[in-house]
Parts: sequence; structure tokens; C-alpha cells
Amino acid sequence: MQFDIITLFPEMIVPVTQASILKRAQESGLVKIKVHPLRDYCQDKHRVTDDHPYGGGVGMVLKPEPLFAAVEAIQAEGEDLRVLLASPRGRLLDQQWAQELSREGRRLVILCGHYEGIDERVKTGLPAEEFSIGNYVLTGGELAALVLLDTVVRLLPGVLGDPESLQEESFSNGLLEYPHYTRPAIFRGMVVPEVLMSGHHGRVARWRRQQALWATFKKRPDLWERAVESGQITEEDLRLLDESQNDQFSDNRRNAVGLNTLPPKRNPRPSRAGFFNTHR
Ligand code: ADE
Repeated sequence: MQFDIITLFPEMIVPVTQASILKRAQESGLVKIKVHPLRDYCQDKHRVTDDHPYGGGVGMVLKPEPLFAAVEAIQAEGEDLRVLLASPRGRLLDQQWAQELSREGRRLVILCGHYEGIDERVKTGLPAEEFSIGNYVLTGGELAALVLLDTVVRLLPGVLGDPESLQEESFSNGLLEYPHYTRPAIFRGMVVPEVLMSGHHGRVARWRRQQALWATFKKRPDLWERAVESGQITEEDLRLLDESQNDQFSDNRRNAVGLNTLPPKRNPRPSRAGFFNTHR
């Protein structure tokens, strides 16, 4: 899969693409990443990329000409493109969208905005789909472009060593991931849950599902709601969750789900229906 990143600050992008998974994915030929300095596409002597906003106001706006020129130069290579523009006004990037982009495998052109904004005709005229990485404002689109790049590349077949780990990780099945442990079995008095050392695959799987359910229910009511609505939560899941409410105060479990500061359980226990609308 090919990615083209158009930016005023290639020095922010290039080092990140030369490390870890992004580096390996390129070396193995699964991914091609090209970084295009926006100034290279300016026609004027001073290579000006921005100008004052029509209608007045503070800050500068990125001009349309170099951005159109850059995208058109890539289009001229003849491949089917999907053009994305990093913007706090965009569609929120989530795991599902990342999966869709990686499955689709189309060449992605990512435009990084800067300054106060970008001429609106870039969005409508190219056109470019806006994406946001969260409800906050970054100085520019470079960090957002890197987030998108990383999250899509790691989902491409063959990029990660163990494809099973993709199925288990947070968000991929609509739930947060269960907690992980490695040696030593006791670290500063904190113990690894006994079940993980039992060697009993069925009990381990059950414990992990229970932890994923509990963590999602407790920490991300929005995800929990969605998982319930989309029918991903079974009767057995609700039993597991109910059970984890019962014994959540064992030290192991509290360590495991990071809830050491949770206040003692209230009485009466919430009803099963309560799981759908009570998030304490
Ligand atoms: N540019 C500025 N803020 C951004 C955000 N939250 N997401 C994507 N691009 C941005």
C-alpha cells in the first residue's frame, strides 16, 4: 500500500517513518511512504504557501495552488487515490475506519494543514476527505498524519508478526483489551492472577473475556453501549460481568483491571438491566 504525505514540515514526518513497524513494513516491500515537501509545488519565486484570509481575521491560510499541484502530480502517476486532509473538523478516526482503509488498500494521499487553516476549495475541489484524530486542536496535521499512517499500516496483512494479536487488541472486537502480565510472578508485592499461571486455556480465555468486559463497562461506557447495541454482548458475557462485580475486590482482580482505587462495592448489586445504563 502506498502513502503520500504532503507537508510543510517533512522533518516532522521522515524520522518517524524510519523506525519500528513503519520502517520494517517499508523494508519488506509491503508499504511505500513518500513525503512531499509542499514548498516544492510552489510556482512563485519565494515559494509562498500561505496568505491572509479573505474577510479579515488573524492568522494565515494555506493557499490552494501548491496543494492542488502536489495532488495532481501524484494523480498523474495514474493510480486510484483517496485524498485525506488532517483537520479538527474531520470525521473522527477510529479502529473501524482504519480497518476499512487498510482493507481497501487504495493509495492514500494525506494533506497536512497548518497555520489557521486551509483554503476551503482544497476540500471541495480536489476533493479531500477530512479526518480528525480527536477533539482537540493540534498546531498542524503532521502528528495526525502519522497517527493515521501508523494505525493503517499495522493492520495490513503481513506487517505484524502475529495476526492473532490484532484480533485480541483493544477496539478490534468492540471491547477494550484484557490486561497482560509477564515475569516475575510477584513484583513489588503485586501478584499475577493465578488463573494465568494455571495452564488451563479455557479458564484463561474466560478470565480474559471477563476482564475485557469489565474494563470496557467500567472505563468506556460509550464503547460498552455500542457493543450492547450491536449485539456483541451475550447472555454468558452478562453472567461473566455480574460475576466480576461480585469478586472485583480480590487483590488479583483489582490489580488486573487497574481499579485499586475503586470504592467498596455498593449494595444492592445492580440488576442485569442496570448494566445498560449504570456506569459507576
Ligand atoms: N489538525 C489540527 N488538529 C487536528 C486534529 N485534532 N486532527 C487532525 N488534524 C488536526
